[in-house]
Amino acid sequence: MEKKYLISIKDSNIKFNAKNNNYSILDSAIASNIILPHGCKSGACGSCASKLTKGTISNKNSELISKNNSILLCQSFPNSKEVIIEYTSDELKILKEKNRNNFKIIPKELLLQVVENKSVTPMVKELSLFVPPKLNFKFYPGSHMDLTYENNKLCRKYSIINSPNNSLNLESNIVSFLIVNHNRNGLSKIIHNKIKPGDLLKLKGPYATFQYKIKKDDPVIGIAGGTGISPILSIVKDLLNKNHTLNALIYLSVRNRDEILEMSTLFKLRQKYKNFSFKITLTREKKLPNNIFLNGRVNDNLQKIFKDLSTHKVLISGSDKFVDATYRHVLKLNALKKNIYYEKFSEN
Ligand code: FES
Repeated sequence: MEKKYLISIKDSNIKFNAKNNNYSILDSAIASNIILPHGCKSGACGSCASKLTKGTISNKNSELISKNNSILLCQSFPNSKEVIIEYTSDELKILKEKNRNNFKIIPKELLLQVVENKSVTPMVKELSLFVPPKLNFKFYPGSHMDLTYENNKLCRKYSIINSPNNSLNLESNIVSFLIVNHNRNGLSKIIHNKIKPGDLLKLKGPYATFQYKIKKDDPVIGIAGGTGISPILSIVKDLLNKNHTLNALIYLSVRNRDEILEMSTLFKLRQKYKNFSFKITLTREKKLPNNIFLNGRVNDNLQKIFKDLSTHKVLISGSDKFVDATYRHVLKLNALKKNIYYEKFSEN
């Protein structure tokens, strides 16, 4: 008979089952739609750390770990029937809020109508779909949806660029995504070439995979490569909405001025919030006189803006390469691993 393992979070009613011990505790939580802090899922970032207070687990090296030890949930597999893990009181407060039943967001399949599919740069379109109010669509900042086409033959995840309101609903019943076309065969190319207003598209989600732990007053820097601006804007706008004096900076890296995304949104945010600012760097354009942009790669520019990121929460989003290079660079500027959160996307 298959063994069952019950995982609980101390001082809460959050519980979930792990079907067998081949799945990490983190994967079992995700499969049960339980939201727990995490980042890389590979043991590198430390975001999924918690304390084991009851039971035993085994780690990736098959070593048994018993209670009162700190564990990484993405590297831990249940070994006793009952496992209890503990978070700090601040973390627990956020977890309870995110997992409250009426706020728990279950991904659903939706058939939505395209209302706009407009070019915002030569390679990027902004795809917008109408979400009927009766669906009561709720999502967390930085969430993504899976978009499918041709009976699920093609499927790809796209980050939502909107920020939710205080009830986690869309402000306008329109959900939008930035879609970049690298001219490879795939869903992004189809969206660029075939999808028109009035078409119906199948989406599944939302999924809150870009996890972060940011308190109201933590200074924040969001670093985006190209369309990685979507989840960064979604999260930073939400944080600013909750704290109008938050110290926040968005840093966008694109190749040239043709590729700049969301510049008017960034200007509006700067006008609205006194401690918000943004920088745009152009990696393949020469410096022009009186130009407001930076030139060169993130590594060259970030150290001119910041000497020390040890007190910052750092959000990074972009291609694999961009995120890896930026991650290494912010570590050199003293950012703490536990304060770096990122989301990667492939360019295919
Ligand atoms: S170390 Fe577990 S999610 Fe990064």
